[in-house]
Amino acid sequence: MRPADLIERKRNGEELPAAEVAELVLAYARDEVPDYQMAAFCMAVYFRGMTPGETFALTQAMIASGDTLDTGAALGRKGVDKHSTGGVGDKTSIAVGPIVAACGVPLGKMSGRGLGHTGGTLDKLEAIPGFRVELTTEEMVAQLRDIGVAIVGQSANLVPADKKLYALRDVTATVDIVPLIASSIMSKKIAAGADAIVLDVKGGDGAFMKTLDEASVLAQEMLELGRRAGKEVTCLLTDMDQPLGRAVGNALEIREALDTVRGEGPDDFTELVLDACARLLAYSDLGIGREEGRRRAEAAVADGSAHDTYGRWIRAQGGDPDPRVLPEAPIRRTVTAPRDGIVARLGALAVGVAALELGAGRRTKEDAIDPAVGVLCFAKRGDTVLAGDDLAEVHARDEASAKGAVDAVLAAYTIAHEVPAARGIVLEVIS
Ligand code: URA
Repeated sequence: MRPADLIERKRNGEELPAAEVAELVLAYARDEVPDYQMAAFCMAVYFRGMTPGETFALTQAMIASGDTLDTGAALGRKGVDKHSTGGVGDKTSIAVGPIVAACGVPLGKMSGRGLGHTGGTLDKLEAIPGFRVELTTEEMVAQLRDIGVAIVGQSANLVPADKKLYALRDVTATVDIVPLIASSIMSKKIAAGADAIVLDVKGGDGAFMKTLDEASVLAQEMLELGRRAGKEVTCLLTDMDQPLGRAVGNALEIREALDTVRGEGPDDFTELVLDACARLLAYSDLGIGREEGRRRAEAAVADGSAHDTYGRWIRAQGGDPDPRVLPEAPIRRTVTAPRDGIVARLGALAVGVAALELGAGRRTKEDAIDPAVGVLCFAKRGDTVLAGDDLAEVHARDEASAKGAVDAVLAAYTIAHEVPAARGIVLEVIS
């Protein structure tokens, strides 16, 4: 295999044999192919795409580049997992984990960190003082047996080819390519041992996929990879045209996830969490359908068992589950409605970037995160507001960043007179 030859053939629109795709990826993972050739290959894929066969070969090679895990088998249970393609205010796993665990289904999940305007579950959990995201496989399995939920960082040698390739894509304008995103996500889910996977595929200005049609194309690719690998997969296409829930920012999102586990979360976020829980429970070895799964998830929230599980989980990973210990920003400033009207739009990307500028995210991998800062969006699409009403609240470290964020969040709101078309959080389900 000559990398330059593969780049040229892909550039010319040829379909590459599976064995050559695999050889390229494995050689790259072993540092035998330089970054500049792999970057050129990714750019050729950007313009020429990949066939389902090529995408599957890429996925399988990425899995083969490192270790695999099977927590389901270690527990003697069917392994279920969930994943989101990333967005603004997405703290879904932090609420879903304790709810499904309280219903008797273990959820051991490897999560990632945020980059750019999208947050990462690990960064959110690390806002909890003392919380440890690095567990050994043995610790993770023991915690799953004992409590039923563990959310950890990706272990060092799980899909190392993706780690390397993702870092390269991030700096070569080759992230937003459907076959590369699909294989990146599915290789990690398959390597982590899931038998059945619920994928939250986000569409909207705050997501990688800007429209529902694009999100649907990504969902189909991931379903196909799951089918070829013998996995059960359901894709929820969900709205990322406005932030999910109210909270954007690490500690603020932990509070909102906890409120939701206690039954006091915002409507859109609660609906997504309960829908995902119902589908995970229906996929599990409990032998129940989705309706019964939904009923049990709602019951676990209502009777406090999900809240109890949340506390045991956070303590097991070294954290303090009391929300009063979460860091708080010293400065709070409200964003007020400039006129009467109806919120026609609240741009997810703009709010995500405002939170990033406050310090809630990182622009480069080396940046430190400020866990306390962020934005609470009180008014969402379709809400009626009067001039002077609080639309949002900015939580900042200093006056200058607060001022910048207030202006940016205000600009993210469009206040009009027409009622926007109503739409739920789950826009479509494909399985
Ligand atoms: N999330 C991933 O894990 N990989 C991608 O390529 C994009 C989002």
